[in-house]
Amino acid sequence: MSRMTVNDRPVEFDLDPRMPLLYALREAMNLTGTKACGGGTDCGGACMVLVDGVALRSCAITLAEAEGRIIVTIEGLSADRAHPVQQAMVAQQAIQCGFCTPGIVISAAALLLLNPAPTREDIVGAIPNICRCGVYPRLIRAVEQAGRVALRQERISAAPAPGISAEDAAKAVPALRVSSPE
Ligand code: FES
Ligand code: FES
Repeated sequence: MSRMTVNDRPVEFDLDPRMPLLYALREAMNLTGTKACGGGTDCGGACMVLVDGVALRSCAITLAEAEGRIIVTIEGLSADRAHPVQQAMVAQQAIQCGFCTPGIVISAAALLLLNPAPTREDIVGAIPNICRCGVYPRLIRAVEQAGRVALRQERISAAPAPGISAEDAAKAVPALRVSSPE
């Protein structure tokens, strides 16, 4: 049994502790916002999650290594998609197909936790994610804007469009097995 906190929820995974965290999140918890290239580094980190506040590739961490950690996935970053990075990505139209977007948002959120006023070089250095749609220039503008929003130097009036809630999205995919201690 591997125990950890995922999106503020204590969970126990009755899975092989050698399993990558990625698959436990996606297939047992239905947190399919975390994307994947199937392992390796082909996507540069579409599988990124926050582990104790640090952006890490969930395909590269086993359940055993995640034991006792605080995990935040894209679904848990903000209950209403109001995280400055999410708002700025929309405002700057830095999303095309969206496959890379969750991992990029997690990488950017981790960067802004440490450095809310990053330079372009800081952003390029901290976001290893690959975007096959090529949103990089807009992405850099979005992260710069998100930093200004986080510092309350700027406001973004247009909130991301409402859609299906993260909880409902997770329920729409059948779970394998996951349990929560009472
Ligand atoms: S799944 Fe592609 S880097 Fe993790
Ligand atoms: S928006 Fe399509 S891969 Fe980045």
